This record gives sequence, structure tokens and C-alpha cells, in this order.
Amino acid sequence: MANQDKFASLIGSERPEPSNIVIFGANGDLTKRKLLPALAHMHRWNLLGPHSRIIGVVRQKWSHAHWVNYVHDELLNYFPEAVLNPPSWQRIAEKLDVVSGDLSDMETYRKLAAQLHANEGKKNALFYLAIPPAWYETVARNLHEAGLADQNEGFRRIVVEKPFGMDLASARDLNTRIQTYFDESQIYRIDHYLGKEAVQNLMVFRFANSVLEPLWNHKHIDHVQITVSESLGIGYRAGYYETSGALRDMIQSHLMQVMAMVAMEPPVSLDADDVRDEKMKVLRSIRPFASEDIDSLTLRAQYGAGEMDGEQLKSYREEDSVAEDSCTETFAAVKFYIDNWRWSGVPFVLRTGKRLPSRVSEICIRFKQPPQHLFRMDDSSALNNDLVFRLQPNEGMQLSMTAKRPGLGTELRRVNLDASYGLVGSGMPEAYETLLHDVMLGEAGLFSRADEVEECWKIVEPVLKAWAAKTEIATYPGGSFDVPGMDALLDDCEGGWRDVSNVE
Ligand code: BG6
Repeated sequence: MANQDKFASLIGSERPEPSNIVIFGANGDLTKRKLLPALAHMHRWNLLGPHSRIIGVVRQKWSHAHWVNYVHDELLNYFPEAVLNPPSWQRIAEKLDVVSGDLSDMETYRKLAAQLHANEGKKNALFYLAIPPAWYETVARNLHEAGLADQNEGFRRIVVEKPFGMDLASARDLNTRIQTYFDESQIYRIDHYLGKEAVQNLMVFRFANSVLEPLWNHKHIDHVQITVSESLGIGYRAGYYETSGALRDMIQSHLMQVMAMVAMEPPVSLDADDVRDEKMKVLRSIRPFASEDIDSLTLRAQYGAGEMDGEQLKSYREEDSVAEDSCTETFAAVKFYIDNWRWSGVPFVLRTGKRLPSRVSEICIRFKQPPQHLFRMDDSSALNNDLVFRLQPNEGMQLSMTAKRPGLGTELRRVNLDASYGLVGSGMPEAYETLLHDVMLGEAGLFSRADEVEECWKIVEPVLKAWAAKTEIATYPGGSFDVPGMDALLDDCEGGWRDVSNVE
């Protein structure tokens, strides 16, 4: 299949209208690691259109040439194919513009407005706030005051990153402030997990096949495990992470969104609000945490010193800019119950951590064991039927079944039916590419609506409060899954945790 055709079949034939992609925080980490490579990818597939511009907004006094060189060098680091072909790079370079100025100064926005008007094409604009959340309101207000939220000349959309608030009150406050200047339909709250191929495929597997639906309920499913295991530590992000921790950083956002996708009812249509209404119903059905249950339903821990691949690892408290008595959790696990007709009594157990032995994200639907064990098997966990949606690495789906070992006896063994997505490397759209493409198309189904974000905060708030009151935290050796209490959390679930320590 020719590359273009392969991509058309990947992403669909819909091409967005040309747009001005305005990046606030254009010299930041997110821009270089994710946004520029995603845009270069889109450019390669001809999804940006000749009149699209990529306008960086930076505080420093940067000339146009400086911005072009910057983009060139960062792409060389993060997506070299984009610049190694000179004609292709030239076409990207022609799309680049820069606006220098302070974010609190109206002059910056007047310059930006002038740039948008100078662009011959449509005046569509997507404002990507790749800046700390403390600036969201200022930028939204100034864009509004400069007339840039006004949709008379084309669409105007604002994209915001997590963290979206630090608790329920701050998330509500932030929503209200941004909604003062932009309509909710113009606001795109990014949760990059929803842009991952396997998460989108979950919807397709569930709702484009009839075989799963009869099994997708408490009668057949014992429990659901959602794991995001990371091998890296917190790196240089202590400033943010010390105020956040794993529950806020990962569970309140990415993992709860994924859980809602697993548990939701079929939506009336794929319109953004129909999908989000169904996710919202799931969130509203989650059993609130009573203070006396928090210790048995949740778990937190912090990485201690350890070793991985022969390398000695620092403990969390030894990381740069981390307090030496910090009680911030780098591992969090939470057991949720969704009190509705479909999921009554089925635990959804979400776990995530840094400095674990592997980098793996997956959803495991564990089915109940057969009512009677006719065949003898030494290891009863081998009888588990797991349906696994692998988000990374090697995106795909796998169903584990029990089968007979070939031979004269009746020895059983586990076999896996694998449906790998069969696309690797540059063929697979990255989450940010999918999401930017959706923003340009005006498809908001993969973005969190204000009420969803608030509901997630409401659910985890009792846990946040209980954890904040603790003055000690258990540790696990860096590079291991030896988290005290992790197994006990699954005591009443069939088969225990799936072993993800050696996944490739
Ligand atoms: C981010 C978190 O949202 O997601 C990080 O802030 C985390 O702490 C990252 O490492 C994980 O994303 P991915 O796509 O690498 O699994």
C-alpha cells in the first residue's frame, strides 16, 4: 500500500480546514517533544494544507530566523525524518511564524491578531496553551479582549493541558474562568491517553462487534485492572510532581478516563456530547469513598533506592528538588466500584507508578473462571481468561485462553490469541497527532468536558484528603513491583495482578 493510502486508511479521509496553529510556550518541553513532531507528521501526510501556519509565541525576543532554526534543531532531535529531506523541511519552514512578547501584555495579542489577518487563507485558529496552568486565565482573557475568541472569521479553539486544577474547587474555578472568555464548545481539554490508538480501538472493539457485548457485565467479568507502569523516575519535574503525586498526575485524569471508556454504555451516536454523556454517567455511578474504606481500597507508596539493568537508582527523596521528608506518592492504586446495573460488584482496580520494572500501559478485563474445573491444572491462574488491550508498547489486543497441550495426555496450557495492530514506528499516529487533528476538525469526543473533569476530582477528593493527612509513606525498591500491600488490594479478585514486569 502506498504511504498516502496507508495513512488515509489510518486516519480516515477527512482533512481539516487550514488553520493557524498558535502555540503559547513555543520554546517549552511539550512543544519540542510532542507538538512539533506531531505537526511535522501531519504535514507529511498533507493534513495541514498550504495555508496553515504554525505560530510560536515566546517571551524572549526571537527573530523569525531564530524560531525556524529552533524548530529545525528540535525536530532533528525528536523527529529527524521531518528535516532530513530538504524539500519537505522547506515546506514546513515556510509555515513558521513567531510572535515575541509577554503573555500579560496586550501588545502581544495585537501582534498575534495582525499575523492572523496577514495570513491569506482562512482565519481559523487553534490556540494551544503549552504553558503552566497559572497562565491559562490570563491568556484566555487577553485572547478574548483582542477579539481572538470571536468566531466570525473562522473557528477559534483553545486547547489546554493537564493538570486541570489540583482539586475540585480549583478545577471548578478554572473552568468558570476560561468559560468566561471562551464557550465550552471552543475549549479542548487534552487527555493524551484518549488519543492513544488502543483506547480508541476499545470503542471500536466494543461497539462494532456483537461478540463482546453479551459478556461485558458483572455476570461474566470478575474484575478489570488498568495498569500504567513507568520505568522512569520523575526526572527534572520535581517542582510539579511534589505538588501532584501519582493520584493527581495519572489516576484522576488518564486512568479514570480510560476506565470510563471501558465501562460506558453504547452512546446514541459518536457525537462528542453523546460519548461524553455516557462517560459522565459512569463517573456519576462510582461509589463514593467512605473515610473508613479508604485504607482498604487505596494504596500509596514512594520509590526508594534500587537497581535497574545494572544501574543504581536514587530514591525519590534523593531526587533533585525533592524534600528529604517528602511523602508524595510515586505509586498509587485505587479500587473503584461502579454501582450500576451492568457493573454491580465488579472491582475496577487502577494502578500506576514510576520506577517500576517496565514501561507498560494496559487494560485487562479478567473474566470469571468456569463454574466447574473439569481439568486438573496446577496453577489455577492459568485458567483466567484475560482480554487485554495494550496501550503501549506493541499496541494491540490479546485474549488468553486455556488449551490442551498437544500430546496423549490432557495437560493444559495457556494460549494467547493476538491481534496486534500491526503498525509500528512512524506508521502509527501518535496520540498528540490524533488529538491535534481532531481539534482542527472540531471533533471533541476525545477531550474531557468540564463536568467530567470536575466529577473525577469529586470522586478522588476524599482520598486526596486522607492521604494528605498522613505523615509517613511506604517505599518500594526502585525498579521493582515490590509495593507493600499491592497484592492484598486484589485479594477478592480472581488470579491476582497480571505480571507486566517483562512485557516487550
Ligand atoms: C503525563 C504525566 O500526563 O503522562 C507524566 O504527567 C507521565 O507523569 C505521562 O509520565 C505518561 O504518558 P505516556 O504516554 O508516556 O504513558
